Amino acid sequence: MENACPDFAPRLITWQRAQGRHDLPWQVTDPYRIWVSEIMLQQTRVETVIPYYARFLARFPDVQALAAAPLDEVMAHWSGLGYYSRARHLHAAAQRVMEAHGGAFPREPAVIETLPGIGRSTAAAIAAFAWETRAAILDGNVKRVLTRVFGIAGWPGERAVETRLWELAQRLLPSQDLRAYTQGLMDLGATRCTRTRPRCGECPFDSDCIAHRHGRQAELPGARPRKSLPEKAVQMLALLHAGEVQLEKRPAPGIWGGLWSLPECAVETDPVALLQGRGYRISAVRELPGFVHTFSHYRLHIRPWRIDVSRPQEAGEPGRLWLPLEEVADAALPAPVRRILEGLHVR
Ligand code: ADE
Repeated sequence: MENACPDFAPRLITWQRAQGRHDLPWQVTDPYRIWVSEIMLQQTRVETVIPYYARFLARFPDVQALAAAPLDEVMAHWSGLGYYSRARHLHAAAQRVMEAHGGAFPREPAVIETLPGIGRSTAAAIAAFAWETRAAILDGNVKRVLTRVFGIAGWPGERAVETRLWELAQRLLPSQDLRAYTQGLMDLGATRCTRTRPRCGECPFDSDCIAHRHGRQAELPGARPRKSLPEKAVQMLALLHAGEVQLEKRPAPGIWGGLWSLPECAVETDPVALLQGRGYRISAVRELPGFVHTFSHYRLHIRPWRIDVSRPQEAGEPGRLWLPLEEVADAALPAPVRRILEGLHVR
């Protein structure tokens, strides 16, 4: 498969040296500083991280200082970065480094990975940046680069695809220059091989990249497979009288609990017969265009009806009201009900 792109590592390293990022504040060799940056960068963009990183290191300049600090103070310095378990893990890991490793950050990726909050890719990144260790990284950016350059189909969250990507990432590793290589993968993914509108003209693999050669940038990496959802159907009845529509309050808990919705009936039911049975006098009936509303756990096919009634019933009951259509905009309505009512254009 690597035949698809000969000399991957040397080309990436050459590109990183000429075009990559060189002035990031964590481009140092102190494993503590690298570690803090990698944790901050796990879910947060570089521009956001930079000021937090400076304040954090000014207050906690080394692993001893971090381990000795009260957790509250660590949290305060994380405040605004989000994903706060990262800060709790960082603090716990600092204490572990002090107690189990005598204050020296471990060098082996397999050992680094045992610290709280550090996974396989982060452990490899820390070791590569701090000691040029030959260890493979595979974060979201790297998955995007590799699936595109090597044309690896399937969703990278799937076990088989991820295993294949780890094997590829491992085989591609150069025997030296791991710092530039690892930073090059990150730089390429973050600044050229972006999810949308990748800048293929500025990529060292442009002529070999499978995605670029076949115009498949938009389909690689593959998307998470869509679960097929169960289908349900319902009829919704917009009963109109004197510029008002009848609504009923949906019971809570339940779908749309507490919102005002339209009366419903099963698709097998004849809505006219149903309403006549309830004592309504009907003056006009029109079936409106149907549509589908998707919930997280099923798809609802909605068949709406506009039914003008000359003799309103069932008003004044609790949980039922007649709403003037001019007030639809401000009412607590489910989105599909709002859509139906806004399409009515009555008077
Ligand atoms: N994202 C994760 N690690 C990074 C690093 N070392 N430099 C820039 N962005 C990153």
